Amino acid sequence: MTTSGTKTTAADITADAVASFDGCADPRTRELMQAFVAHLHAFATEVRLTEDEWRSMIAVLTQTGDITDERRQEFILWSDALGLSMLVDALAHDLPPGATESTVLGPFYVPGAPEREYGESMAEEAGAGTPAWVHGRVLDLDGNPVAGAELDVWQNGADQLYAVQRPEAPEHHLRGRYRTREDGGYAFIAVRPVPYPIPDDGPVGRMLAATGRHPWRPAHIHMIIRAPGHRTVTTHIFDARSDYLDSDTVFAVKPSLQRDFRERAADDPERPPGIDGGWVSLESDIVLTRGDAGGDVSDPGRTA
Ligand SMILES: [Fe+2]
Repeated sequence: MTTSGTKTTAADITADAVASFDGCADPRTRELMQAFVAHLHAFATEVRLTEDEWRSMIAVLTQTGDITDERRQEFILWSDALGLSMLVDALAHDLPPGATESTVLGPFYVPGAPEREYGESMAEEAGAGTPAWVHGRVLDLDGNPVAGAELDVWQNGADQLYAVQRPEAPEHHLRGRYRTREDGGYAFIAVRPVPYPIPDDGPVGRMLAATGRHPWRPAHIHMIIRAPGHRTVTTHIFDARSDYLDSDTVFAVKPSLQRDFRERAADDPERPPGIDGGWVSLESDIVLTRGDAGGDVSDPGRTA
């Protein structure tokens, strides 16, 4: 509190607001709220936030709520586009060297993908894209195979879209859950993913346009890998030859997650069953860390 007769300063207001949480019984809630208010006030003070800018920020938050529904999660999009999702992921998953690195879940994960057989295609519509034979092994840090690991996979098609973005698409198009065999091996038929823009017709898109940023993500396949006795990993495989690897609008690219798609001819003797015409192949081993599964970020509250 300030003394009667003296001028109240900006710093006084910040100190009062921070102190208002001193009596919070839960220490973590108190820490979060006091640090949040202190940093929010420091931001406004540093940039000398104007009243018009403050009103604009309120309008942006209101628009973010208005556009968010079961299929569109603009708050996650803000978190992704500001790099916060990747930061929280890095803080939560400090994996040892050699383990497959994690990256963002993104807004297009839908739980409950169908279980599919080894080598089965997850494309349920014709013309989804160039067939891609994706295979490898799931190993632990000592190089031992991890049998029975689950790979929960989803991706976009050549039209840039995920099935969840198209109400007319088959529900399970381009997604599936695969299990590793005794030797840790997995394989599935995907399509070659393509770069795509994040939804940019809302407040996040307007921010990108106003700041000279593009909305594009490099081509990738999403995966969550779960195995008993091992930490769950949420990650991507990036096409090492994709555009936008050096400017992913959600900052999710890590060098260790890039892999080469090999172009294959229709008459290639290694062509797997279920593929016709030209195709590509991609090999990627996954290395898990022993431990508890850990927080699985793939809960319905995060999906869109
Ligand atoms: Fe994606």
